[in-house]
Amino acid sequence: QRRRTPMATSTEGFAELRAQLLAADLPEWASRATQPVMGEGPVGAALMLVGEQPGDEEDLAGRAFVGPAGRLLNAVLEEAEVPRDALFVTNAVKHFKYTQQGRRRLHQTPDAGDITRYRPFLRAEVALVRPRLVLALGATALRALTGRAMPVTKSRDLHLKTADGMDLRATVHPSYLLRLPDAVAQRAERQRFAADLAR
Ligand code: URA
Repeated sequence: QRRRTPMATSTEGFAELRAQLLAADLPEWASRATQPVMGEGPVGAALMLVGEQPGDEEDLAGRAFVGPAGRLLNAVLEEAEVPRDALFVTNAVKHFKYTQQGRRRLHQTPDAGDITRYRPFLRAEVALVRPRLVLALGATALRALTGRAMPVTKSRDLHLKTADGMDLRATVHPSYLLRLPDAVAQRAERQRFAADLAR
């Protein structure tokens, strides 16, 4: 099939990409991260999920979406009967950006310059995986994939394209659900998020 790349080539492609990232001229804050966190999943996955950046747990583990947002994502994927290991899961920004407050490392949202700097690495991952559909989780991913600042709320029901012409949809980031203060809103938003994933 045209969409599938021989596994050996792709493994080399990902290793090469990681090497390029390790050698890249990145923002100063990136050197304070433990390690780069690249995407994971099968080449040729039909669906690719793109988050924002690794969090504290992802930074330590070197794996995307293994912290609180990842656990919520796993639970919702399970409800939607979408097996996570069939997906390619990655982030727009490959290092954890944080400020230190005592012993805690507090997440900092990547800015437009950060998104631009990491964009070639995300584009390269999309090119290696060649998914049928890319799903942006939140505004950072949507900006990285389209090259434009767009609100997720207005993009959620649209059939979009990445800047490279791949099919793209958008939904909220699972952390958004974790931040909702009210249980009723949280339940409603979680259902909507699950419906987006199932679709
Ligand atoms: N949030 C993200 O966007 N990505 C992760 O990997 C973890 C939390």
